[in-house]
Amino acid sequence: MNGTLLEIGPPAAREERSGFEPVVVAIVCNWCTYAGADMAGTTRRAYPPNVRLLRVPCTGRVSPLQVLKAFEQGADGVLVSGCHPGDCHYVHGNLVARRRLAILRALLDFVGLDARRFHVSWVSASEGVRWARVVETVTRAVREAGPLDAWSPRDGEEPVRLPEPPPAPSPPASPEEQEAVGRNLRSLAASLLGEGRVTVFLGYGEATLPGRAVPLLATDLAEASALVWNDRCHSNLAVYLAGPNRVPGKVAVVLKACDARAVIGLQQEGQLRREDLVLVGVRCPGVREEDGRLALKCHACDGEVAAGCDFTVSADGVETGAARSAAPRAVAPDPRDAAIAFLEGLPPARRWAFWREQFDRCLRCYACRAVCPLCYCGTCISEHHRPQWIPASIGPRGNASWNAIRAYHLAGRCAGCDECTRACPARLRLDLLNRRLALEVERRFGYRAGEDPSAAPPLAAFRPEDPQEFVHA
Ligand code: FES
Repeated sequence: MNGTLLEIGPPAAREERSGFEPVVVAIVCNWCTYAGADMAGTTRRAYPPNVRLLRVPCTGRVSPLQVLKAFEQGADGVLVSGCHPGDCHYVHGNLVARRRLAILRALLDFVGLDARRFHVSWVSASEGVRWARVVETVTRAVREAGPLDAWSPRDGEEPVRLPEPPPAPSPPASPEEQEAVGRNLRSLAASLLGEGRVTVFLGYGEATLPGRAVPLLATDLAEASALVWNDRCHSNLAVYLAGPNRVPGKVAVVLKACDARAVIGLQQEGQLRREDLVLVGVRCPGVREEDGRLALKCHACDGEVAAGCDFTVSADGVETGAARSAAPRAVAPDPRDAAIAFLEGLPPARRWAFWREQFDRCLRCYACRAVCPLCYCGTCISEHHRPQWIPASIGPRGNASWNAIRAYHLAGRCAGCDECTRACPARLRLDLLNRRLALEVERRFGYRAGEDPSAAPPLAAFRPEDPQEFVHA
């Protein structure tokens, strides 16, 4: 998909030419729908000429990048179609695709893409009539939605403002309690390093600015004496356990509850070996933003140390093992959910106005990627040049594609630490994208990221009874 895939011109030019005729990219599987479309042709079944077919071996091969690329390059609508469930020539390709397409659909809907623009159907090789009907339905829907001319702001458009989050539910830990946690961490690090049980103790040290904390890799007792704990210990240290930042050797790592979920995710994905780690859970009363307010992710978190940790550190001392035996329990409503509900209550065009303004501010600095433990690929999709799936330079289309594909890649994997949002110099609300998809994964598949190291990642699995209400009947 290099260069201009769709020689169709900008929407205005197309309208001038012939009244509005939508362009619909249909990504179809070779074995069923492509043959079904062929059948429609050989039986002389007429259907709208608006579709451009893109043949793939199986819907299991359909990447959300293809869908986003089609929209980015000027398609007004996209249809993905393949074999009926049970008929896939690669057995389960379409069932896995069904999960992925459901999540992609939720993402596109959340950023405000009109739902009439994205369609999924099952059409077999013998269903030429059905193919013609699906194309008619899809073309009609996309025509009603109009040309996709969404990339520039409309004149006089009011910005969308999110409601103020509620006040924090709990008081902060006192400086004395924080100092006690720090003291206990130093003593544990001294004992683990001194006894040679680990080669590195990965925790937090005092930053140059007072009251801040930065990651600290202690390899001896002198370095361990600089370890601290305070409510500015933001970084998710799991980022140093996999990928290009991986710290070699036997590593003890300090984890808040959200950070521990990332470790479980990395374990699930085969990115680390549990026996190479000593997990030091800290009972965390929450971290604070620059303005002193409790971070939104902390409102609902009980702060308890995750199951599976080797040590629990609190102001009271160091215990062996973890306190938690059951799944985390929300202690207050999650303010991110209120912001998501607010956005979902808006018409799609207003949602898109919100996200377009957010994406337009993206600097493409990739700070979000750098701080994310689950972004460990050696070569990120944003760096692929042949084909170049995502335009490399800053611009509305590339920015939207980058942020959308990153959110999609984290669906069912994001630990919810919100480090991407904190690290973003443009303060994009990436937390809302990640959280919205986490909720969708939980609602559809009953799965929460970072809880079970032996569970199959939800977008690499399927159940035959997975809901498919979004697929054309
Ligand atoms: Fe058609 Fe898998 S071969 S969907």
